[in-house]
Amino acid sequence: MTVLETVAALREWRRESTAKVFFVPTMGALHEGHAALVREARRLAGMEGRVAVSIFVNPLQFGPGEDLERYPRTLQADLALCTAAGADMVFAPAVNEVYFDDRSIKITESSLSRVLCGASRPGHFDGVCTVVAKLFNLVQPDEAVFGKKDYQQLAIIRRLVRDLDFPVAIHGMETVREADGLAMSSRNRYLNPDERAQAPALRRALLKALAEWRDGDSEAFSLEESVRDEIARTAPLARIDYVSCVDGGTLQPVDGSAGQRLAPRVIALAAFFGKTRLIDNIELPDD
Ligand code: PAJ
Repeated sequence: MTVLETVAALREWRRESTAKVFFVPTMGALHEGHAALVREARRLAGMEGRVAVSIFVNPLQFGPGEDLERYPRTLQADLALCTAAGADMVFAPAVNEVYFDDRSIKITESSLSRVLCGASRPGHFDGVCTVVAKLFNLVQPDEAVFGKKDYQQLAIIRRLVRDLDFPVAIHGMETVREADGLAMSSRNRYLNPDERAQAPALRRALLKALAEWRDGDSEAFSLEESVRDEIARTAPLARIDYVSCVDGGTLQPVDGSAGQRLAPRVIALAAFFGKTRLIDNIELPDD
């Protein structure tokens, strides 16, 4: 596996690659969830294609007071994981390789990024869109793999690709979880033992709402209430940021009617345990 740190080296790698390129962008501190994305890219690429992973903690997507400085950096372990999962190349640049000090252009998404996590993290998804657009321009992938764990991010990336005509096919991968259901996240390591013990309540509350949906409860409001109540009852350490039942494509609130839709509806949530903000979501299948 090749490890590249400069834009110049990456451009040379790309020029020499005649095969299709399958790309997994990450911020490092890699875990089994990331590994699943890399393995999926490997599967899609087959023997012929090339699998590229980027590891870059993108300062643009961290707000003031967020965890940019303490975001875990574990490059050696990350490279071992990428090798084992079948990556051909890892791009791990320093910040000044990616951003000019006097940069003056960014990408702003003005609809999907205003709700859910975007409401409490202003500028976050502009930072994500800007870095993903730059990485797409640098790596020039044919296809890219993102996780459904960050459901809003995935929907926004699809919109970015559609609205700005990036010739990249986007794949969404199911969330990889710990044995007790907690969605794997680089931030889980910040949880203290009591918080960690209560964190799986998020998943359990979403599963309970899914069961109610399957039993015919189609009111967004009552599904949201059910999730909130269940978390309050079983995880007193959780402070809920939002619980929202939305259209999975537009991320706008949905009413009870089924009808024709391109994307399933989704219940998305964010909750704080201490200073640690966790997110999760569940799709409500229409059938
Ligand atoms: P990061 O949080 O490192 O996540 C990289 C990719 O891994 C994202 O597509 C994310 O959805 C996916 N992922 C994380 N945890 C997962 C899990 N438990 N199961 C499945 N997939 C999981 O998301 C980012 O980085 C950044 O915003 C980035 C897109 C790289 C732009 O900086």
